[in-house]
Amino acid sequence: MRPRGASADAWAEVARHAARLRSIPTRSLFAADAARVERMSLDVAGLHLDFSKQRIDNDAMEALRVLARSADVAAQIRQQFAGDAVNFTEGRAALHMALRAPKDAANPPGGPAIASDVHGVLDRIEAFDDRVRTGAWVGFTGEPITDVVNIGIGGSDLGPRMVCEALAESVRGPRPHFVSNVDATELTRVLRGLKPQTTLFIVTSKSFGTAETLANATTARAWLVDALGDQAAVAKHFVAVSTAAERVSAFGIDPQNMFGFWSWVGGRYSLWSAVGLSIALALGMDSFRALLAGAHAMDEHVRAAPLESNAAAWMALVGIWNSNALGLPSQVIVPYAQALARVPAYLQQLEMESNGKSVRSDGHATEHQTVPALWGDVGTNGQHAFFQMLHQGPQPLPIDFILPVRLTHGQDHQHRMLVANCLAQSEALMQGKSAEQVREELAGQGMSGETLEDAVPHRVFEGSRPSTTILLPTIDPAALGALLALYEHKVFIQSVVWGINAFDQWGVELGKQLATVIEQELASGQAGSHDASTTALMHRVQAGWRVD
Ligand code: F6P
Repeated sequence: MRPRGASADAWAEVARHAARLRSIPTRSLFAADAARVERMSLDVAGLHLDFSKQRIDNDAMEALRVLARSADVAAQIRQQFAGDAVNFTEGRAALHMALRAPKDAANPPGGPAIASDVHGVLDRIEAFDDRVRTGAWVGFTGEPITDVVNIGIGGSDLGPRMVCEALAESVRGPRPHFVSNVDATELTRVLRGLKPQTTLFIVTSKSFGTAETLANATTARAWLVDALGDQAAVAKHFVAVSTAAERVSAFGIDPQNMFGFWSWVGGRYSLWSAVGLSIALALGMDSFRALLAGAHAMDEHVRAAPLESNAAAWMALVGIWNSNALGLPSQVIVPYAQALARVPAYLQQLEMESNGKSVRSDGHATEHQTVPALWGDVGTNGQHAFFQMLHQGPQPLPIDFILPVRLTHGQDHQHRMLVANCLAQSEALMQGKSAEQVREELAGQGMSGETLEDAVPHRVFEGSRPSTTILLPTIDPAALGALLALYEHKVFIQSVVWGINAFDQWGVELGKQLATVIEQELASGQAGSHDASTTALMHRVQAGWRVD
């Protein structure tokens, strides 16, 4: 059953609540309900979520749950876990939850055959990890592997790169490196610090047809073969993660050294599959399995919990409230943790490649805004960059604050500062500062008369700027797994309410097609038939840079 989206009546009711709440400051919602924080907070899979600073109340939340029920969210979640083709434009399941179910799961997503395939690959990863780590797998010249370079892009890069950076303190195996951009600057910089004899490349590509990845892999292969003087070295220094065995073999990688996954794993949902090989090698299999276990705990919660206490449903519905009901145009992600610096970029692909759609499952245009633009950076850096706009810009923008309660770097004082800043920002955004407060403050500083009145409007904070705070106990594999799975489920639930397909990405294809044509034209020195702007730009580029 394709998602048909929520009913018009349910949307109208949500809009009615938005109109009602628009003029009520959030701080008075706290005053009106002593149990607000308790009612609007959840503890799930080790995470604590506090939605109470959102500009919403219980009645509006209930209207959102009616909206979700009108879209059959619960049935769609069941279908996704059962392995139905929820990716209806490609006739595929979206079963990334199967990748993290334990071997003995009673009711594994997609059924026991899929579970057995998944654990077969996990066991192969574990055996390979063990060989690399113990030095049983050596390079062409007999030296052990010290560095691993993952070459991939999009979902074949963002997840493993983000996880390895988040958990960098736990790296116990070979040093991980990542190359994604077709701009060879990235590859060149990585290779500059590496020894071919001790470097292992993982070419990660679901399709094994992605131009950027193949270009980087080809350059890396030439670097290796040049240095070691023998094509046979490739077998000892290149492995692949892919679903396309024939293409892997055509590239020159022995299919024995390929780690497979399946068409029902979407690229942006794939870090839990063999795409996580670089995570397993860097952090060890125990950490990789702990990451999977954290995500599985979230899966089990989302699968079983009713809408009232379902963390992913809360995330999804509060997001819909902000963008559809309140009309707020983007979603800001601010992890207060340097280790989580790549989380915003990861979530950009997850959310915007998934739900950046405007056609419903019935082929008609959506009547409602779908995914808001997602952006962000770490706190406290963001405070000295874009927070001015968050506090006083013309439109409120909802923020997800992600904060680990405990960090293990030993600098307690700095961690206290970090935590204080995160809590202060969400408090300031919600509470605001009235003209009276500003007046009082300035008068206390000795200002008066016209000078004071002139200064007041510039220093007022309207408040009621919405945020959710997500507390992680610490940054460990389990908490990270739960956090990422939470956002994955949020994305699916939103897609169901909007009636769109979260699992295809046709929107990336047109640019790829045109780039192939333009690249050929640049190589031959000709400009083909394009619009006038593109033709003029090609002439300029060709004049400034001669292609050999
Ligand atoms: O950008 C489009 C896309 O297909 C993503 O969905 C995917 O994660 C990425 O390219 C890489 O694809 P592949 O793993 O097939 O190289």
